[in-house]
Amino acid sequence: MSDEASCRVRVNPERTGAVWWDEARLSRRPPAAILPLLEVLGPEEIAVTSTEAAAIRLWGAALPGWEDGGPPLLIEPAEDQGKSEALSVPLPERRRESDTSIEAALRSRRSVREFTPGPLTLAEVSQLLWAAQGETGAGGLRTAPSAGALYPLQLYLVSGDVAGLDPAVYRYDPRRHELHRARDHDRRAELSAAALHQECVGSAAAILVIAADGRPTTAKYGTRARRYIEIEAGHAAQNVHLQAVALGLGSVDVGAFDDAAVKRVLGLPAAEDPLLLLPLGRKRKDKRE
Ligand SMILES: Cc1cc2nc3c(=O)[nH]c(=O)nc-3n(C[C@H](O)[C@H](O)[C@H](O)COP(=O)(O)O)c2cc1C
Repeated sequence: MSDEASCRVRVNPERTGAVWWDEARLSRRPPAAILPLLEVLGPEEIAVTSTEAAAIRLWGAALPGWEDGGPPLLIEPAEDQGKSEALSVPLPERRRESDTSIEAALRSRRSVREFTPGPLTLAEVSQLLWAAQGETGAGGLRTAPSAGALYPLQLYLVSGDVAGLDPAVYRYDPRRHELHRARDHDRRAELSAAALHQECVGSAAAILVIAADGRPTTAKYGTRARRYIEIEAGHAAQNVHLQAVALGLGSVDVGAFDDAAVKRVLGLPAAEDPLLLLPLGRKRKDKRE
C-alpha cells in the first residue's frame, strides 16, 4: 500500500448502524466493486487503497454502487475531518545503542509478573515496539526474522498507564513508527479477564499483544505457515524481553488466554488472531536484589 494511494477512514460512531461488515461497524455492506480497495483495521477504522487518489476522495462522497443507492455517509475520511492526528501517535526516536551487553541481557532476563505502580514513558514504549517489529533495513526488513519477509505479525499496544498516551488500544505501524488508535478506553481489566484473570495482565502499565494475519504466509507456505508464524511471534517476543532488560523494565509471556475473548477486547479484524500477550511495566524489586 503506497503513501499516495491509501488513507484511513474512520467509522463515525454516532451514526453507526447495527450491521457489521467483516468486523467493521458500518450500516451498509460496501459494494463488491470497491471491496478490494478496503482493509478493515478495526471496528472503527478502515484503510482504503486505490491506484487513483481521486477514487479515495470520491469515497466519502459519491462512490456508485452502494446496495441501497446511498453514499457511505457513516464513514468520514479522517484526514478531511482533521482527526488523523488524534488517531495517530508518532513515537519518539528509538535508541540504537545502550550500555547493556547482549550477554548481560540474556543472563538477567526473567519473567516478571509483579509490577510497581507508575507509568511507562512513551520513549520506553517506542523502544519496546521497535525491538519487536521495528524497521531496520532497506525494503522494510525488520528487527525479527520473517519467513519470506512476509511479516504476518501485527502488534497492538493496550495502554493503561503510559505517560502522554491515552488509555486505549493502538496498532503499531512499523513503517512510520507510530501508533494508530484502534479502540478507546482502558482495556486492561477486560484483557486480564480474557487471559484467565491473570493478575499480571491487569496490573501491567501496558500490554503488547502479538497478533498475526496469516494469509500471505499461508498463500506461500501452505500447511507450514502456522509453524512459521508462531516461530516469528517467539522471535518478536524475545526481542521485547531483551529490550525490557536493557531498559530496566519487566515483561512476561502470557500464552494462556481465550482467543475469541482477546480478539473481541482488542476489536481485531476477522483475519487476525492473537498469539501472545506481553504485559510490561516497572518490575517490583525482589527483596534479594
Ligand atoms: C509460550 C509461552 C507461554 C507462556 N504463558 C504464560 C502465561 O500464560 N502466564 C505466565 O505467568 N507465564 C507464562 N509463560 C512464562 C513461563 O512461565 C516462564 O517463561 C517460565 O516459567 C520460565 O521462567 P523465566 O521466563 O523467568 O525464565 C509462558 C511462556 C511461554 C514460552
